[in-house]
Amino acid sequence: MLDIKDNKLYLDEISLYDIAQSYGTPCYLYSKNSLVKEFNEYKNAFSNLNHTLICYSVKACSNINILKIFKDIGSGFDIVSLGELERLKYIKADPSKIVFSGVAKSDKEIEDSLDYGILFFNVESIDELENINRIAADLNKTANISIRVNPDIDPKTHPYISTGLKSSKFGIEINQALEVYTYANQMENVNPVGIDAHIGSQIFEISPFIDSLDKLIALYKNLKDKGINITYFDIGGGLGIKYFDSDEPPSKKEFADRVIDKMKDLNCTLILEPGRSLVGNAGYLLTSILYKKKNYDKDFLIVDAGMNDLLRPSLYNAYHKIEEVVKVNGDRSKYDIVGPICETGDILGKDVELPKLSKNDVLVIHSAGAYGHVMASNYNTRPKAPEIIIDDGGSKLIRKKDMLSQLMENELLNE
Ligand code: LLP
Repeated sequence: MLDIKDNKLYLDEISLYDIAQSYGTPCYLYSKNSLVKEFNEYKNAFSNLNHTLICYSVKACSNINILKIFKDIGSGFDIVSLGELERLKYIKADPSKIVFSGVAKSDKEIEDSLDYGILFFNVESIDELENINRIAADLNKTANISIRVNPDIDPKTHPYISTGLKSSKFGIEINQALEVYTYANQMENVNPVGIDAHIGSQIFEISPFIDSLDKLIALYKNLKDKGINITYFDIGGGLGIKYFDSDEPPSKKEFADRVIDKMKDLNCTLILEPGRSLVGNAGYLLTSILYKKKNYDKDFLIVDAGMNDLLRPSLYNAYHKIEEVVKVNGDRSKYDIVGPICETGDILGKDVELPKLSKNDVLVIHSAGAYGHVMASNYNTRPKAPEIIIDDGGSKLIRKKDMLSQLMENELLNE
């Protein structure tokens, strides 16, 4: 949340204008206070349930400093790649609080995760299950697994981020799950310990989560009848956040109360994999105006951040609130905020109401903490923006801006 003082926007007592001056733009900015607050909200909301493990979904924002903050306040992690595992090893995250998700884990990912001693793999296919069993046998280990089921639930969100529908590539069909668990249970080097589902992201209704949980609980009971005792329920991530001022996502408490109601008698550990709802609104992208132009009836502000810095508006037509960091009185009109990239889709905001602004004026793009910097690219050979955190009343650089020489580092000029 930003505050306004003397017509300037502040994040945790630090002026956004000053940050732009000190670090240059574009730059990503995070509030440690918000990260901690969001995490504690989850923790408190679920405190009535005996065993809950929050596994922050690393893919949402994977800077090692952010990971370290979550580690220090007791978070576990949900990962999907060798790279994310390396990040966690680097910060010495507790392996017994790591779950490995993702639709296709490579042999190396499985080996290194077994070696590090992660809590379990969320298995997405029979092929993958057999592969995990084979690798675990080679390493003389037993792999704890949970089966990610596809419950065929419509999470009522953007189709690109719906993952629990029949048509999606994720998980194992719920009707097949019993058979797959029975198969897994007979394997020498695999130990089924959990049930998992992740139905999508930016979800605003609690009922799809509960419908999915009901299906998992029915499966849990069937498994119990067959002598397969599951001790972990991983219900994935997906809770939505506010992007529009008018958005009213469910609170973590509302979500927790409904989930606890279902889980309280099961005596299982609940695992949550939140990403966006922990970091989304803790992050901002600052950008400066380079040029103004009018084409026919459209007024454009061309800024120094582009779709390579924040892809969500181009990729999902996602809305991010944009405003000026130094408030100006007077008439406001509508502008399209576009970046310098050579693509028509390089749009950060459409019809944004802003006052008359000039070159070098700074804009802040809200809700950029989740799937912001992590989805940035070097398209147009542009350096990725630096990342800064506000912590203890001061700002700290947590990722340098790419150097142009780094962008060519792996290229080989054949002369
Ligand atoms: N667990 C699994 C298995 C996931 O695939 C995801 C996100 C999460 C947890 C975390 O979900 P969250 O709490 O953040 O909703 N790039 C898209 C979002 C993709 C989400 C991918 N999976 C966007 O910018 O909206």
